[in-house]
Amino acid sequence: ETAEKAGFDHFMLKEIYEQPKAYRNTMMGRITDDGKSVVLKEIGMTAEQIRGIRKVHIVACGTAFHAGLVGKSVIENLARIPVETDVASEYRYRSPIITPDTLVIVVSQSGETADTLAALREAKRCGARVLAITNVVGSSVAREADDVMITQAGPEIAVASTKAYTSQLIAFYLLGLFLADTIGTRDAAYVSEVVAAMGELPEQVERILEHAEVLKQVAESLSKHNNLFFIGRGVDFAVAQEGSLKLKEISYIHSEAYAAGELKHGTLALIEEGIPVISVITQEDLYEKTLSNIKEVKARGAHVLALVNEGQEEEVGKSVDELFAIPKTLPLLAPALSVVPLQLIAYFASLARGNDVDKPRNLAKSVTVE
Ligand code: AGP
Repeated sequence: ETAEKAGFDHFMLKEIYEQPKAYRNTMMGRITDDGKSVVLKEIGMTAEQIRGIRKVHIVACGTAFHAGLVGKSVIENLARIPVETDVASEYRYRSPIITPDTLVIVVSQSGETADTLAALREAKRCGARVLAITNVVGSSVAREADDVMITQAGPEIAVASTKAYTSQLIAFYLLGLFLADTIGTRDAAYVSEVVAAMGELPEQVERILEHAEVLKQVAESLSKHNNLFFIGRGVDFAVAQEGSLKLKEISYIHSEAYAAGELKHGTLALIEEGIPVISVITQEDLYEKTLSNIKEVKARGAHVLALVNEGQEEEVGKSVDELFAIPKTLPLLAPALSVVPLQLIAYFASLARGNDVDKPRNLAKSVTVE
């Protein structure tokens, strides 16, 4: 086992550091030689079938579901197809309206999650086309889906998913661009701009990882608390939900993620002196709005850590206690960067609390029973 950890103390840390490679491998072979567009040979749908998709359902559990939340924004933004997201354990019990012109995307690292597999079967029974995004070739989900995108993250051992999640984001970016290109909702110049920005992500993640020590200190002080909050808007909210899940599953600190604009509708009552609030603020068009929410919690005594884009440290720094800057990318791609510091915070908080980082209590790597 020590050899498999390749010098890292835990599988989770190793897998966090493997993300630049996982990004590159997941993009490899899916970008044209000129670096300008996306080819997905694994998608067997004709252009006509793709143009006939009227809606998309994304169904998954846990962290894979959180990737699906980003996937919804990506597909709606790029391909302009309406997308619904469901946790798989709810999907088939709500009588979803699945029609032959629905594309159902199931997302699963293991490809063996019982509820996700059941959702896939329900979708097929209703005549929908099913696309699986999974990390395991030959898994049940991969075998039963019509089309399969394999995330090339490599084996993920730690119960807390890290590189599988970010590889799922890469898969959604590729898929969104492919759909947009086929449907004609985005022109070639735009697609090539996004592809170029995606090419920079691995090196940008490496730059974040160089600052792990700063995040260790942040995590050590957070580890002394029993409650904290994550806030964000848009895809920042999706990332906040993933950061919150990561933290609670391995540190056992109670945390909640809220859409920043929802605070006033109840949660603000829980904000008291010294409570930590982690705010993800990377989206330019939502910047002012989130900043005003940060000021609301600050005014009530919260201790705020903000994840900001490089270049905004000074402005945001006036309203928060601590900040961590992530390299600048296109707004839609920011989750592939902003989640990395949150993974490291969760890791170091778990470590500081003396927990079993790779095998948190009560949890299994793959949930094969309902
Ligand atoms: C991730 O950190 C969790 N342990 C868990 O939510 C996981 O993502 C979920 O069980 C889904 O697993 P899957 O991707 O293998 O289907």
